[in-house]
Amino acid sequence: MFTDSNRTVVVVGAQWGDEGKGKLVDVLAERADWVVRYQGGANAGHTVDLGDVGFVLHQIPSGILHEGVRCAIGNGVVLDPENLFGEIDGLVKDGIDVEGRLYVSDRAHLVLPYHKLIDSESAHSQSIGTTGRGIGPAYEDKIARRGVRVLDLRDPKRLRDLVERNTERANAQLSGFGSAKRADVSVTLDVLERLAERLLALAEDVGLMVHRAQKSGAAVLLEGAQGSLLDIDHGTYPFVTSSSTTSGGAATGVGIAPTSIDAVLGIVKAYTTRVGAGPLPTEMDDAMGERVRALGNEFGATTGRARRCGWFDAVVVRYATRINGLTDVAVTKLDVLDTLDRIAICTGYEYDGDLHTEFPGDISTVEQVVPRYEWVEGWQQSTADARRMEDLPKAARAYVDRLQELIDSRISYVSVGTRRDQIIGL
Ligand code: IMP
Ligand code: MG
Repeated sequence: MFTDSNRTVVVVGAQWGDEGKGKLVDVLAERADWVVRYQGGANAGHTVDLGDVGFVLHQIPSGILHEGVRCAIGNGVVLDPENLFGEIDGLVKDGIDVEGRLYVSDRAHLVLPYHKLIDSESAHSQSIGTTGRGIGPAYEDKIARRGVRVLDLRDPKRLRDLVERNTERANAQLSGFGSAKRADVSVTLDVLERLAERLLALAEDVGLMVHRAQKSGAAVLLEGAQGSLLDIDHGTYPFVTSSSTTSGGAATGVGIAPTSIDAVLGIVKAYTTRVGAGPLPTEMDDAMGERVRALGNEFGATTGRARRCGWFDAVVVRYATRINGLTDVAVTKLDVLDTLDRIAICTGYEYDGDLHTEFPGDISTVEQVVPRYEWVEGWQQSTADARRMEDLPKAARAYVDRLQELIDSRISYVSVGTRRDQIIGL
């Protein structure tokens, strides 16, 4: 992805999350100088398999696993400080050097204990099937202009005032839910006092740092979390996350100019998954869904929930190509389909007596659509050792070529296993 003219590259999920962004970012970070997260928070779970060890990263960019790469958490992220230091300490214990190369935007909003309490006690959050990490409530406070930012830790008086007011509000909300649980000012302040010094040591004007890096010609990777169909504006609202997951969010979430982005890589699975509630038009029948779930180990990296599995949906990915401006696509987990005798690709949606190829805005329409499938033959042999497109079995190659035709974007990478080296296209 990085060339003389491609210096700033965004990586986005082009389905409902869990497409394998962690692996691609890890692989691409080899050639990056900076890796920056721009939205979401500890709801993300990016899995990276290094062969003998594996890591699941929630907030720290997957680039941290490469020595010398600088990593940052942008202003668009809602940061859970306890989780962050848990993650840092875990990495350090595993021999990863974090100090001096991880920065946090001083403008990032904090996820505090009362956000998690509200998220876990709210019936609305439950009906959406959130991760319970306090993401929605923290973004609500941000948009309502009462949030607590990293830089507020520099002013204990202002911090206390904000926490007191927000705790009171949180408790009114909890009582409105009929919950007996209550947030406590001193619990929150204790956490913040304990972590303030460590957190402020990482705090920087990340937008400015990245801007300077861009000016000096650095290779900058902007790492998205979740997927395009979970975007607050473009996803299957209200069954979405609370941030701008698409490439437009990368500029605002890091604090750089949209015109400084050179390329956008969309990550898609060779099939589709979704965790949580909301429509999934190509959802497989129970037996096939269970089979693919087992083959692909489709259990949430953050919550452990079983992921719902579906066939590849070209309507979804073509939509993601358009709203993100994808210049390239990486297809992951092709190997998961190795043993299937036939495979379906959704090429359109039937509803209202017509065939549609654009993704509808209203989820009640998305819930009704009948996918139009094209069935292709499986290859029924292992793809795990393929390192070039020519190494793929003919039917697997034909499958990838067909996806490329349908999604309006170039497939530049195909991942055929969880390990770093199991990838075609580098
Ligand atoms: P929230 O982001 O915790 O508010 O959850 C909102 C929706 O986004 C739920 O359906 C979650 O399952 C989904 N979601 C959040 N983060 C991820 C992720 O990293 N991968 C896949 N789904 C996610
Ligand atoms: Mg994940």
